[in-house]
Amino acid sequence: MSGTVPKAPERHWSVGTAPGIFPFLGHGIALFRQPLDFVNSLPAHGDLVEIRLGPRRAWVVCHPELVQRMLRDTRTFDKGGPLYERLGALMGDGIVTCPDAEHRRQRRLLQPAFRPARVAEHTELMAEEAESLCHGWRAGQRVGVSADMLGLTTRVISRVLFSDSLDAGTTAAEIRSCLATVVRGLFVRTAVPVDALFRVPTPANRRYRHAVDRVHAIVDAAIAERRRGVPRDDLLGTLLEAARGDNGEAAVTDREVHDQLVSLLLTGAESPALCLASALGLLAVHPEAERRLHAEVDTVLDGRRRLVPSDLPRLVYTRSVVTETLRHRPPGWLFTRVTTRETDFAGCRLPRGSTVLYSPYLLHHDPTSFPDPDRFLPDRWLPRQDSPARRDAMIPFAAGSRKCVGDTFAMAETTVALATIAAHWRLRHPPGPVEPPRPGATLGPRSLVMTCEPRASEPAGAPPRAHAPRATATPRAADSRSAGDNGVDDT
Ligand code: HEM
Repeated sequence: MSGTVPKAPERHWSVGTAPGIFPFLGHGIALFRQPLDFVNSLPAHGDLVEIRLGPRRAWVVCHPELVQRMLRDTRTFDKGGPLYERLGALMGDGIVTCPDAEHRRQRRLLQPAFRPARVAEHTELMAEEAESLCHGWRAGQRVGVSADMLGLTTRVISRVLFSDSLDAGTTAAEIRSCLATVVRGLFVRTAVPVDALFRVPTPANRRYRHAVDRVHAIVDAAIAERRRGVPRDDLLGTLLEAARGDNGEAAVTDREVHDQLVSLLLTGAESPALCLASALGLLAVHPEAERRLHAEVDTVLDGRRRLVPSDLPRLVYTRSVVTETLRHRPPGWLFTRVTTRETDFAGCRLPRGSTVLYSPYLLHHDPTSFPDPDRFLPDRWLPRQDSPARRDAMIPFAAGSRKCVGDTFAMAETTVALATIAAHWRLRHPPGPVEPPRPGATLGPRSLVMTCEPRASEPAGAPPRAHAPRATATPRAADSRSAGDNGVDDT
């Protein structure tokens, strides 16, 4: 008898083509006009579905098992394709865009700054920034939630990267506005990757170019200022140390220092801001979820105004709200890869250089993985009802070695910010229709405006105190290790 375990037979995957290809633009119009509907229509045509991005053939991977395979085979499915080609022009060869061959070294350099112990050290500055935002709001005021969340996350990531080398107020505001322009421009360049269109000096193309140039200039100014000033224990400090070769490794180039900072600044600000804006918008139309969030926050804060790091494990429901928001409206909803060699995938022969896409939104809205997928149900994550199939399908931070380096940081930041806002304010949609999610390069409300209602009966104009403790079912600490988790492992 041989000792070898019989290999499970390869399952039969279905391969199809999406209907409705337009000459020259391909599926660009559908992808641009109704991106979420278009993406969600694809599984009906197969587990791997051919589409056209402009004139270019591309394949969308629609089954969670295949997506996991693709994400874990980074030698064959490398960063590339229209999204990463455009991001490369912005972020150079930094960690987000670099090819697989470069990635391991870069990840080793940056990962320590995002380990849980470092993230815990940043919790206080996250709470401080969130509280300062809440203090700036007034009862009855209409606040630009999308803009304020982007301002908040830009300030937080700027402090983590540069300490005080960037003027937190004015520069963060400028970065915020550049980021909004860049993200808008990136998506149209991904859906219709025809460079000639974007070289025409239209006002939109000029705005995009100007925003990109300003982000580079701001980062260069911060690096120059630090080089003239005192060393600091922040990410810029780590990178400058690596540029001097002080860490025992080959010195990284000045170009790389710049590229890493631009990469982390943009990714670190955009997605958490969209997650927060989405969560606040959703809570306002899900009163039971909002009530339970408020009850938990009141109990955990117990009359204090500022969160401390040890509060985080007890904010189990708050974390479930964040996790469900990331499922329902994943800020990163569509990504591209390119094949580095000819490969057999799902029974289909993909030539070298093929564009392959995957969409967290598509997997998160598959009813076999998440029953009733269009409903916002934080209870899905309370207590954890885990299954391998669901773990494969829940990929707000992707998977494999290119999984988001900031996942722990982002979960902490959004949980802290949401809890802090919930302790001070209830946000309401103004009368009229609620803005539907508008996907671009990322997904989430881009111009959400809401009205501030004090949580307690405080005089108008003064931010209210956090509520006194209320009887509520605070989950036991033992539950908090698993409940409200994002269900994605760390590999
Ligand atoms: C809710 C917030 C966030 C979400 C949903 C998110 C999502 C993602 C996703 C899906 C990827 C993989 C993209 C792909 O497969 O092509 C990614 C990569 C990345 N994210 Fe995040 N992200 C978030 C916050 C952050 C933060 C706060 C940072 C830190 C500054 C960050 C830095 C990065 C970096 C550097 C990568 C590239 C990692 C690598 O290739 O090694 N992200 N993110």
